Amino acid sequence: MSRIDYSSLTKEQLVDILKRRDVQARYGLSWERLNVDADRALNRDFVGLELDESLSCGPSPWENLIIEGDNFDALRHLATTHAGQFHAIYIDVPYNTGNKDFVYNDNFFDARNRYRHSTWLEFIYQRLVLARSLLRDSGSIVVSIDDNEVFNLGLLMNQVFGEKCFVANCIWQKRYSRENRSAIGDAHEYLLVYSLDPDGFKNRRGRLALGDKQKSVYKDTGHVRGKWRAVSLSAQGFRPNQMYEIVSPQTGKVFVPPEGGCWKVIRSRFDELTEKGLIYFGKDGNAMPSRMQFLEDIDGMTPWTWWPHEEVGHTDEARKEIQDIFGTQTAFDTPKPTRLMERVLQICAPEKDALVLDFFAGSGTTAHALLRMNKGDGGHRRFVMVSSREATDENPDKNLCRDVCAVRIRKAIEGYRSEKTGPVAALGGSFAYVKTVTVPMHRLEEGLSDSMVWTFALQACGHPLSPVQAGLSSSVKGNHLAAYCANTKPATLTALRTLLEGHQGPTVVLSWAPQVVQAFLSGLSSVVSYVGVPQDLQRAFRQGNAQVHEPTLVEDEARAVPETVEVTDDTAVDEVDELGVADDDGEPA
Ligand SMILES: C[S@@+](CC[C@H](N)C(=O)[O-])C[C@H]1O[C@@H](n2cnc3c(N)ncnc32)[C@H](O)[C@@H]1O
Repeated sequence: MSRIDYSSLTKEQLVDILKRRDVQARYGLSWERLNVDADRALNRDFVGLELDESLSCGPSPWENLIIEGDNFDALRHLATTHAGQFHAIYIDVPYNTGNKDFVYNDNFFDARNRYRHSTWLEFIYQRLVLARSLLRDSGSIVVSIDDNEVFNLGLLMNQVFGEKCFVANCIWQKRYSRENRSAIGDAHEYLLVYSLDPDGFKNRRGRLALGDKQKSVYKDTGHVRGKWRAVSLSAQGFRPNQMYEIVSPQTGKVFVPPEGGCWKVIRSRFDELTEKGLIYFGKDGNAMPSRMQFLEDIDGMTPWTWWPHEEVGHTDEARKEIQDIFGTQTAFDTPKPTRLMERVLQICAPEKDALVLDFFAGSGTTAHALLRMNKGDGGHRRFVMVSSREATDENPDKNLCRDVCAVRIRKAIEGYRSEKTGPVAALGGSFAYVKTVTVPMHRLEEGLSDSMVWTFALQACGHPLSPVQAGLSSSVKGNHLAAYCANTKPATLTALRTLLEGHQGPTVVLSWAPQVVQAFLSGLSSVVSYVGVPQDLQRAFRQGNAQVHEPTLVEDEARAVPETVEVTDDTAVDEVDELGVADDDGEPA
């Protein structure tokens, strides 16, 4: 919203503003929005989800979701039903390589197009604005990208989320062998990480499990608490209350901090550590003091931006995974390794009940990694995968979502036979397979199917999906009851009354004739919210999408104002604590 009420200004004043604006340079990214071919996927219709039971996996109710359709539609549906709910969003956007990786208006985008970058930016921008409304405050969005658009994407994300929301730019080493064709061989890609609340994100982000290499630093010397290592007590810098003398109890040798440094902890903390027998002066008692850190105390490493292929896989590994699952690498061209997705989820979705979205799901690697993580730690994280059919004018029957994404995830859930390693154990889980259906707002009466209404109701109430029934459909989650009357026949209404009489707790009843239903249920003591179809769905959809507005000039300017950071003594005290405990624990050599 603009702060100026332009309607109250005179023509002269408006002309003056425009003249000044014409000569003012504006910081930030701009692209030729008006010149790019309009994205035919953009529309203002209502978006419903039609369940396809035959493509769903496992028995209902289904906690996970695969959405087939353009992600612009899927995101607008989710903006109504899932605003502010996702812990993590990962997207692997088309990189705009010019090499058939970007389908735009049902054709592969022509790399020679004069508005190549602008078209890509407009396409991504429209979707990022929607995605922003789906994130929890301390949630995060991670976007994979390579050199083709990394600089544009960074500026775009600053614009959509704000510079202050930047968390990290991680480097993924995608190759393990040298690439000799370029002057300087390309070996990495980027993962840009943003959060609406970076401090909140820092408090909840996951730490990384120690690998064999990191564990090998901890030695077993027969200590009752097991393996440990010595961590230096010295830090760089000068802090008056960290500049004391330390005397070795074995030899009486006196130690002072090294030149240009201080001890990591203040005296009282040092005495505490000594009391607990955690200060070490070397085998002979003559070495600089260090702190004993036990392997059993380490709950993981602080993530950093360097993601080498040994830890998270490489493109070749990803292709072999596709080969292993489908028997051919041609099933999907640009997969990410599952280990890379596991790393993203370890950091961004550590909670066992995290909700994760990938709206450029491709072959479904993100869901595969999530299922593996759940299997590993007994979690019940849930996913929403969105994939297009990737149909083009040349290949109109292609259905990537159904034939690759869903097939892979089903195989991961049910187990499959690998060409190389034999049977692969089932990871468990289930999903509902739904297709986006757009219905013009003025045609909802005839365009909304019962299945779409019921799916919308369940999603909006936070219930897992189940198939719609003829007559009365119902679902209970906790003490919340959601019900849908597809008609007002006596049998349907009587079944509803019986259901409500046996239920205690908040209840939502959807119907095409809410007054009729309400009158039938009069005298019932339950607390019932009546939702009218289609008018209340239409209103909810409009409201959900109304929050999704383009960042205005004023907002952009507000974001550009740097914050003054006041340094107080508290900062120093925090750091002492951190250096004494958290930092060391998180950074094994
Ligand atoms: C780089 S791939 C993602 C690969 C994925 N990370 C994996 O490991 O399999 C990008 C995917 O986004 C899909 N896509 C492109 N535009 C889309 C759109 N508008 N809606 C939904 N999916 C889209 C493409 O079909 C492609 O499969």
